Amino acid sequence: MSTYKIAVMGGDGTGPEVTVEAVKVMDAAADKFGFKIEKTEFDFGGERYMRTGETLPDSGVEDLRQFDSILLGAIGHPDVAPGILEKGILLKARFELDQYINLRPVKLFPGVECPLKDKKPADIDYVVVRENTGDAYTGTGGFTLKGTPNEVAVQSAVYNRFQVDRCLKYAFEYARKHGKKARGVGEENTLGLVGKTNVLTYIYDLWDRAFHEMGEKDYADVRRDYYHVDATCMWMVKSPEWFDVLVTGNMFGDIITDLGAITQGGMGIAAGGNINPEGVSMFEPIGGSAPKYTGMGVINPLAAVCAMGMMFDTLGEEQAAKEIEDAVKWVTGEKLKSLAAGKMGYSTSEVGDLVAQKLVD
Ligand code: IPM
Ligand code: MN
Repeated sequence: MSTYKIAVMGGDGTGPEVTVEAVKVMDAAADKFGFKIEKTEFDFGGERYMRTGETLPDSGVEDLRQFDSILLGAIGHPDVAPGILEKGILLKARFELDQYINLRPVKLFPGVECPLKDKKPADIDYVVVRENTGDAYTGTGGFTLKGTPNEVAVQSAVYNRFQVDRCLKYAFEYARKHGKKARGVGEENTLGLVGKTNVLTYIYDLWDRAFHEMGEKDYADVRRDYYHVDATCMWMVKSPEWFDVLVTGNMFGDIITDLGAITQGGMGIAAGGNINPEGVSMFEPIGGSAPKYTGMGVINPLAAVCAMGMMFDTLGEEQAAKEIEDAVKWVTGEKLKSLAAGKMGYSTSEVGDLVAQKLVD
């Protein structure tokens, strides 16, 4: 019997509440599919920071390295200045554990109200592979003349070929394995590069060359498309059915995946994985800590449940991942009135129960 060591970081606000539900479903899946989960909880987050001044200490990173995977609730506390926890915990974990892929499916589930006119689940079903270690996120830059009328601020988008290549390789492999043809819903598996080659003529030129070189050499079976990022935003609204697998840099990936999330029903359902294919990955609902709903039992835990499903997929428990997703689809399609906090028709824990129960039925 496989045993998985999972670190659970509930984090801030509603993070711990949704994580409890994800763990509930995780335990149900372990029972059903015959594997064992050893969980260890960590309290990194705003409360601990206010108590101790510590975000994610280096020793915490070393601890996290010992696990097969990490489940994260949410990071962000109303009493802590913006940036401290995000950089000190979330980005630190992503960088130190070299989770160089941020995998964000954009998938409309049945029964979910979609803000795009006439779009159905078959129309919104694609994945964004967001590079997760480079770009404007590296902190390369600084100020001169700070605080004066002539102040200058520079923050550079930085990529090296190695980072681009490893991300592209993941994306091509992903498209080959999970693209539309592989899923039996299209004629081809397609990888679309999202860039801005008309203005960012250095970094997206590098991406573009690397993309076509690798595609031509190793992935002739995967069709290659290119979209400028601004146009991508239009098509994500107007014709999301065009997309299959998209790959892009960190900053564009951050922005377009929030747009993607709202087209699939919002933060109650959108999940992502910070993946190090050779190391320890971390899965999270991509919504924030929703402080105003903390402790009320009204927040939607499905994004956390879906994140946990993605974790199983990455651990190689593909059947468990698939059945968790099917159970979530059943809950959105047959049970919930809305995905919005307080409007689901069920409490947070009842939604967790519904998924767990459906899974074992
Ligand atoms: C996300 C978030 C983070 C990011 C923030 C909280 C640092 O927006 O996971 O998309 O920009 O990556
Ligand atoms: Mn974001």
